[in-house]
Amino acid sequence: MKNVMKSTLVVMAAMLGVCSSQALADDAAIARPTFYKDIAPIFQRECQLCHRPEGANVSGMIAPMSLVSYEEVRPWAKSVAKSVQTKSMPPWYAAPQHHGQFENERTMPDSEIATIVNWAKSGAPRGNPADAPEPIVWPETGWTISGGSPDVVITFDEPNWVGDDVDDLYQNITVRLTEEQFPEARWMKAIEFKPGSEVVHHIIAFAVGESEDGGRRFGMLGGEAPGTDPTTFPEGYGVLVPKAPTITFQMHYHKESGPGTGVWDQSSFAIEFHDKPVTHPVQVATISHGAFEIPPRHPNWKVGGAMTFKSDTTIMGYMPHLHLRGVACKYTAFYPDGTEEVLLDVPTYDFNWQIFYEYKDEGLKKVPAGTRVEFEMWYDNSPERAAAVGYNSERPVAFGGPTWDEMDLGWMNYTATKPVAASN
Ligand code: HEC
Repeated sequence: MKNVMKSTLVVMAAMLGVCSSQALADDAAIARPTFYKDIAPIFQRECQLCHRPEGANVSGMIAPMSLVSYEEVRPWAKSVAKSVQTKSMPPWYAAPQHHGQFENERTMPDSEIATIVNWAKSGAPRGNPADAPEPIVWPETGWTISGGSPDVVITFDEPNWVGDDVDDLYQNITVRLTEEQFPEARWMKAIEFKPGSEVVHHIIAFAVGESEDGGRRFGMLGGEAPGTDPTTFPEGYGVLVPKAPTITFQMHYHKESGPGTGVWDQSSFAIEFHDKPVTHPVQVATISHGAFEIPPRHPNWKVGGAMTFKSDTTIMGYMPHLHLRGVACKYTAFYPDGTEEVLLDVPTYDFNWQIFYEYKDEGLKKVPAGTRVEFEMWYDNSPERAAAVGYNSERPVAFGGPTWDEMDLGWMNYTATKPVAASN
């Protein structure tokens, strides 16, 4: 499950001879940093994936400014320093105990943070342009999986009008692929979404089609919401896309309503396929309580759900999904031998960043049959937070689609640890 965006960057940086993150990470902070020599290489690694003129649309979250040239960065020096010091940037919400576990981790060594802070404090000097690293070259297609050339791109047949009166809307849009377009079932290795407008709150994609034995085959391909990276499975792991599938985009649109607010949306996603059949078909579990009710004005309401794996299981990653009142969540494994382990602790959940925490390929989580996984979530329905975030704290809140209702979904990608015969 390598994070393609980050690895693309690292590969390119390596090709261009930019100093490696390892070299810098172990050094102490640089005392008199200049932009070209010390800051630009850090920004290339840590920020430019999103902060560049055609920045990665990390699932609808488009970074507000480019942090490539000195001229672009200079006006932001102070806020940049603040954002890294408070760790609001780069965005990452797993507790420090998970450092090193997840492929798409976005954290910076303290020495880099201190270097940026030193630089801003000393007046954000430019330095010598001759010290600048080679600029990063990004794939021009706008896709990051498959080195920028995915095997297939699926998009709405025609643009979809999200009208002036819409504030919160769930809508299913289907795209039928013919047998000519998609003649055989194939195993998905990676998927990347591209929202077609700024009012896309999330997309979940399903594929339905005929299986080899004539039955129906149904599969969740993936989902994205603000802040989700593309998903890439390791060799041997994947999701089957049936031949001639009917694809459903389950769209959630969210915006202010009113005259002139309507927009056209034509979202899409891209897939990279495995060359070979897989031995580990990946499934998605949803841990959820569903029937909770958060009392009015309650500042710390807890909700929980659980599931038990019946056979030895390999967990690939997690994606917690709460709405505006969600402030923290945690996945814990209770093993059959009586021990327990926190699998993922998100002490400060941020609705704006729907992050899929993907284990590194070499560190997939293997759990024995009989393991119970609990998903706990905490919600803040206090008037203070309501005033800051913008919701009504004076009513009880239950499960519901609109962002002003709540959700309690603990998604988990997993597969049986025992390989299956490689076939379609
Ligand atoms: C994964 C994409 C991503 C990465 C990586 C990233 N940013 Fe951001 N950044 C954003 C987005 C999106 C916003 C807008 C946030 C919002 O609207 O809530 C933002 C906002 C900001 C802001 C505005 C103020 C704030 O703190 O919200 C600053 C400053 C900033 N980023 C600096 C950085 C720096 C410095 C780095 C690298 C060390 C970085 N960002 C890495 C996506 C990213």
